[in-house]
Amino acid sequence: MRVVILGSGRGSNAEALLQAEKAGALGKARIVALFSDRPDAGMLQLGPRFGVSASYVDPAPFKTKLEGEGEARFISAVQACQPDLVVLAGFMRVLKPGFLQAFAGKIINLHPSLLPSFPGLDGIGQAFRRGVKITGCTVHAVTLEVDGGPILDQAAVRIETTDTLETLATKVHAAEHALLPAVVARLSQS
Ligand code: GAR
Repeated sequence: MRVVILGSGRGSNAEALLQAEKAGALGKARIVALFSDRPDAGMLQLGPRFGVSASYVDPAPFKTKLEGEGEARFISAVQACQPDLVVLAGFMRVLKPGFLQAFAGKIINLHPSLLPSFPGLDGIGQAFRRGVKITGCTVHAVTLEVDGGPILDQAAVRIETTDTLETLATKVHAAEHALLPAVVARLSQS
């Protein structure tokens, strides 16, 4: 199963996937390329480290969504990799019908809360400020409804009274680094 990862940030989840593959823990999944909409994304540094192609793709003209010329550039870059699965690992843009149709049924997203609670930006901060006792992370299929597609799996994280936003973020990220590779491995076997 050929996997392409899209991300916008430091890439700790892309790294967890690459480490899992290296450790033989990603089933039949093979990570074939990483793409970012930010030229300065830490994720792109994983390319040389793991010997996988990692490229910036210009997402212009929009700031928070992928549509128009930027969407067309992403579609052709990803299509060239012939992916069976497209993993959004911290890709901070809303996908539109063009991209969703190009990879219909093949796109999954990682979100840092127990959906349907706390969709959108800053899922960890939203849960912390709301004062819930349990939060976590979710991997779901991507549909037009932002953070609303069918849930594939979740992991729970308890918020202790001693937690700060920083300690909670560390715990949620650790949960993500276990959950996402497990889901990709499982999908690769089906
Ligand atoms: C992760 O916490 C992921 O759940 C979140 O961005 C972070 C990326 O971290 N995604 C979203 O909030 C999507 N709405 P990383 O770049 O270190 O993998």
